[in-house]
Amino acid sequence: MRVLVAGATGVVGRPLVGALRARGHEVSALVREESRAPDADQVVVADALDREAVRSAVSAARPDVVVHQMSALRLLRDDPPAAFAQTARLRTEGTAHLVEAARAAGARRLVAQSIAFAALPEGPPALDEDAPLYVDAPDPGWAATVRAVAELERLVSAGGLAGVVLRYGTLYGPGTAYARDGGTGQRVLAGKLPLPEGGAGITSFLHVDDAVEAAVAAVESTATGVFHITDDDPAPAARWMSHYADALGARPPRTIPATLAPRLLGWFMTHQLTTARGAANDRARTALGWKPTRPSWRDGLGRE
Ligand SMILES: NC(=O)c1ccc[n+]([C@@H]2O[C@H](COP(=O)([O-])OP(=O)(O)OC[C@H]3O[C@@H](n4cnc5c(N)ncnc54)[C@H](OP(=O)(O)O)[C@@H]3O)[C@@H](O)[C@H]2O)c1
Repeated sequence: MRVLVAGATGVVGRPLVGALRARGHEVSALVREESRAPDADQVVVADALDREAVRSAVSAARPDVVVHQMSALRLLRDDPPAAFAQTARLRTEGTAHLVEAARAAGARRLVAQSIAFAALPEGPPALDEDAPLYVDAPDPGWAATVRAVAELERLVSAGGLAGVVLRYGTLYGPGTAYARDGGTGQRVLAGKLPLPEGGAGITSFLHVDDAVEAAVAAVESTATGVFHITDDDPAPAARWMSHYADALGARPPRTIPATLAPRLLGWFMTHQLTTARGAANDRARTALGWKPTRPSWRDGLGRE
């Protein structure tokens, strides 16, 4: 098939281009700067926020399937507000441009990256895809992020293409925030990620290799819908944080009173470590025929 990957220079996008080509697909890489493009059958250039540029780039690629792996979260370390604001625009305007361009170019299928940690924190430890999203989170920044996620998912499902949303768990592995040289890895190594007392917030992790394999499965499948792409081992912070610190060779996280956490960690990290729910991947296993090759974060978190 002819596949266009938008976000082809990213942590998931770059290896995805290689994986799709290895499976015999003809892959076009959509990038902002040609010099950063991965090896691909064709390179097309556009900023996703430029509607006309996206239209002509996608039309030149004439894809059967379009894959959206764009975010601006790489900015998180230096400028978190800009990272979230720009990523929200990519999820709303960027997705709208891509859907419109894909339809105009005759594509039949769209696969887009979303997140598995945007649910309202109520119910069992691992939620399925029908759980409501946390669009009314008390933190305005997170509420805006979740609303942008909801809009991306709406656009993908209602855009007139066979749409697949891959809600990735918290990514770890090379190039991610949880790698030794990533933002979270560095924070733990510096002893600056304390554990709020109890540490009951649950995280579902995902190795980048499994994110790539899920995207390949979604490209090749005929299934549509929203799928949690997570490992099989949703874990409370109290469990994974000490393992992660140990794997990095850092000191165990110090415990702080839960009441101090918002001031020391910010709203989102406090939510993740104290109240968040994990995500169940049963639907992706059944409908996409995908399963994680790293069933547990214990198989590598902090070691790459
Ligand atoms: N589920 C998760 O845990 C999750 C999800 C997403 C991201 N993250 C974290 O965020 C970091 C980055 O991951 P990622 O794969 O999303 O991001 P990434 O590796 O930064 O890749 C993002 C892609 O989007 C492209 N892009 C950004 N703005 C664009 C625009 N205006 N027009 C066209 N393309 C644009 C980038 O291209 P350029 O090279 O031109 O910038 C890049 O190819 C990692 O640390 C990861 O752990 C985590």
